[in-house]
Formats: sequence, C-alpha cells, structure tokens
Amino acid sequence: MKQILVTGGLGFIGSHTVVALQEKGYDVVIIDNLSNSSVDVLDGIANITGVRPAFEELDLRNKAQVQEFFKKYTDIIGVIHFAASKAVGESVEKPLLYYENNLGSLVYILQELSNKEEANFIFSSSCTVYGEPDSLPITEKAPVKKAESPYGNTKQVGEEIIKDTCKVVDGLKAIALRYFNPIGAHESAEIGELPLGVPQNLVPFLTQTAAGLRKELAVFGDDYPTEDGTCVRDYIHVFDLAKAHVVALERLLNDKNEKNYEIFNLGTGKGSSVLEVIQSFERVSGQKLNYRIAPRREGDVIAVYADTTRANEVLGWKSELSLDDAMASAWKWEQKVRGLS
Ligand code: WQD
Repeated sequence: MKQILVTGGLGFIGSHTVVALQEKGYDVVIIDNLSNSSVDVLDGIANITGVRPAFEELDLRNKAQVQEFFKKYTDIIGVIHFAASKAVGESVEKPLLYYENNLGSLVYILQELSNKEEANFIFSSSCTVYGEPDSLPITEKAPVKKAESPYGNTKQVGEEIIKDTCKVVDGLKAIALRYFNPIGAHESAEIGELPLGVPQNLVPFLTQTAAGLRKELAVFGDDYPTEDGTCVRDYIHVFDLAKAHVVALERLLNDKNEKNYEIFNLGTGKGSSVLEVIQSFERVSGQKLNYRIAPRREGDVIAVYADTTRANEVLGWKSELSLDDAMASAWKWEQKVRGLS
C-alpha cells in the first residue's frame, strides 16, 4: 500500500499531522530520533485514530540509516518533512548543529526521493524567512530577508535546495509551507506541545505559568508601535495547520500543482498581540494569569501576520479555529499533562 513518511512525526506539528493523515485513510510511517519528542506520543495518536503508525527511530543525519530506511520502505509515495532543530536562540550558539541536522537530513532524504519514479515532498518552513516585513499582511511574494538566525537560514536555504532539486529531478514535486505561529493541541488532549526544558515560545510558557510550573510570564516589551504596545503574531491552531498539510499533499498526489515547486503561507490572516493572547487565556480558563512587563527580547519582530489568499484560493484551505479555541485546547492539554484535570 502506498505510504506517507512523516519525519519528526512524534513532534508537536508532526503528531497532529499524522492524526490528520490517518483520519483521511493514509498509511503513515514515522521517522523520529526522539531528540525533542517522546515515543509515548504513538499511544496518543493511536488513542485518537485507533491506528498505531509504523515507527522507525533513526537519525536523519546518518546517511546510511536513511538509505536503509528507503530500502525497507519501498512504497513511500509522499514525505512530509518536519524533522529539524527549531530553537532560534540555540541555533545562534550552535550553528553547525543546525546546519548539519536541518540541511544534512534534508539532502539525504531528497537524494533518496530522486531515485524514485514519483515523489511528493512537503517541507516545513516558517514565516521567519520574511524577517521584519516591509508591509502587512505578508504574501508569498514578500522578499525573503537575510535570516536573523542560523535556524531561519536553514529554512531559507532548505527552500532553495528543494527548488533547485525539483528543477532537475523529473518525478519530484514539492510544496513549502511557511507557518506563522502554531499553538494549541488536539481537542482530545491526547497529543499536544511537549517543550523540553524552559519553553521559549509564548503559549507553552503561559500555560506552564497558569499550571504553577513557572512563577510568572514575562511579556517581552510593551513599548512597540502596536495597538497595545506588545508584539503581534498570527497564531494558528496546530490542527488547522495539520489539515493544511494533508490538503497540500493531496494537491501533489492528484497533480493539481501548477509548478513543481510551490510556496504557501499558513496562518489565520489575523494578528494578535501578546496581551490579547493573555486575555484570550483568561477568558477561556476563567483564571487570571500572573505576568509582568519585561524588557524587549533581542531579535523579536514588531508584527507579523499572513495574507492567506493563496492558501485559501489556490490551495483550497482556510483556518477554521479561533484564538480562543487554540488557547482552550492548550490549557486543556497542559492540565492533562500536569495531572490537574
Ligand atoms: C511570540 C511573541 C515574544 C515568550 C518563534 C520562532 C519562529 C517560529 C515560531 C519555528 C513574541 C512574546 C514570548 C515569552 C513573550 N518557530 N513572548 N514572553 O518568536 O514569534 O516565533 O516561534 O518556526 O521561527 O522565531 O514566537 O512564541 O517565541 O513569541 O512576551 O515568554 O510572544 O516577544 O512577541 P516567535 P514566540
């Protein structure tokens, strides 16, 4: 049976995408090296869909292991590639780890796909490639700016590697999906975000504060030129994002793509400030959040949110869940993980 490989499939967005794929009847195999995930996520996926995906623990930086995998799984018709290191700050301190992991893995997978008659490849990219945008909302035509971190650079270079490869490998078609800010968890609370150590991102730090794990949330600056002075982002529910991956894959499987390499922004098209996220949490949880205004964080852009016209009209996908839906699901997940529910 034709199989879909999901690399990083035990991670935050990967696991939600595996659920969305299985719910559409796809046979999924996961590769994960468990460096930023847990094998228990397989149980969460199986509890939701009733199907436990095949799982191979391997490190995609090991070319021989990648080759062995494709010798064993000969019916892979599509790959959704999430596996990558993704901490912006860490990438500044450890650039070679990021270039080796994020780009080495990508090259080895594309080399294997280049040997196949047909291959359909979905790449996990990021709005970080736009840097500080010149205008809002951001369309796919917005200029890709000099990356502010090695992590962001691996997304930019990754897209170029895929684009160049699709030009010369006849059977290969690809779509890069540029995510804005994924948040929330599956409504069942069987899977969700599992950040290791102190969360860098807003929502997991916020819910851990509400759960009593963190003393208070530091809001990084309220003196930005925005409505309430705090930064604005396009927060998209992770399950809306997961479903977009299935739509993008089917675009390729059904040969609906216009060119062999396409790019889509995945967001809600709406910007929300940090304080609005806090207000959303307080609304859906019924509890006050302990936070303070702190100095700005180095490298933060003022405001970023997507123009979703191409995703809506060309890809045929639109986000459906609201910020409150996402914050309610994030809080339900946090309470479950901490044994509070
Ligand atoms: C959001 C807002 C912070 C934490 C990052 C990556 C990006 C992508 C998504 C992978 C900002 C503020 C945060 C906190 C705060 N990841 N904040 N207190 O920086 O928009 O994007 O994640 O692709 O590449 O850069 O997300 O959640 O870190 O921050 O006030 O404790 O929340 O200043 O305004 P960001 P974030």
